[in-house]
Amino acid sequence: MKFFADTAEIADIKDLAETGLLDGVTTNPSLIAKSGRDFMEVTKEICGLTDGPVSAEVVALDHPTMMKEADKLRAIADNVCIKVPLTIDGLKTCNALTQDGTMVNVTLCFSANQALLAAKAGATFVSPFVGRHDDNGVNGMDLIRDIRQIYDNYDFETEILVASVRHVGHVLDSALIGADVMTAPPKVIMALAEHVLTDRGIEGFMKDWKATGQSIL
Ligand code: E4P
Repeated sequence: MKFFADTAEIADIKDLAETGLLDGVTTNPSLIAKSGRDFMEVTKEICGLTDGPVSAEVVALDHPTMMKEADKLRAIADNVCIKVPLTIDGLKTCNALTQDGTMVNVTLCFSANQALLAAKAGATFVSPFVGRHDDNGVNGMDLIRDIRQIYDNYDFETEILVASVRHVGHVLDSALIGADVMTAPPKVIMALAEHVLTDRGIEGFMKDWKATGQSIL
């Protein structure tokens, strides 16, 4: 499963890239606003930190303007992936862009039928939002399971990019279901390495090592 960082914070992306765990980055208008940075500038900087896809989202709601925005965004770098909302205009834009080889991430997917449309429109990625479903009392992972089954039934190549990931349990479930990608805030990705027995083990080893009076360096 590929790991994308769901952030526009440069320091966090650099930190993750050093671990070798980073396969790409996703941003959205809210994350850009949170960063306080210029959209074009920060996107260019992020594209230089990973060879993987960097999702940059259009903000227009109609197909012709989405296409104009996408033209500007895809000129930033070869690894820009245009993010469009799961609307009819977004699907038209997805269809047009993927036909000439541009990567497209269809976002704000909340139903398996929507995911079916994204795949039929040729999306590179579809982003079902699990956390926002959970927030509304619906099990977001059920959606991932349904999409996995539908895509496998028809051999769709669109990758399931689990989004709105809030905790490590979402990552585990995504991997068990066989999602292709998950995007999570860097702190969630880092938390995957945590285990109380790892901490306790290090503590014990350090105590015993200290008692030997030796040093490696
Ligand atoms: C990523 O592509 C999505 O925009 C993001 O995961 C949404 O997450 P949120 O529901 O925590 O805002």
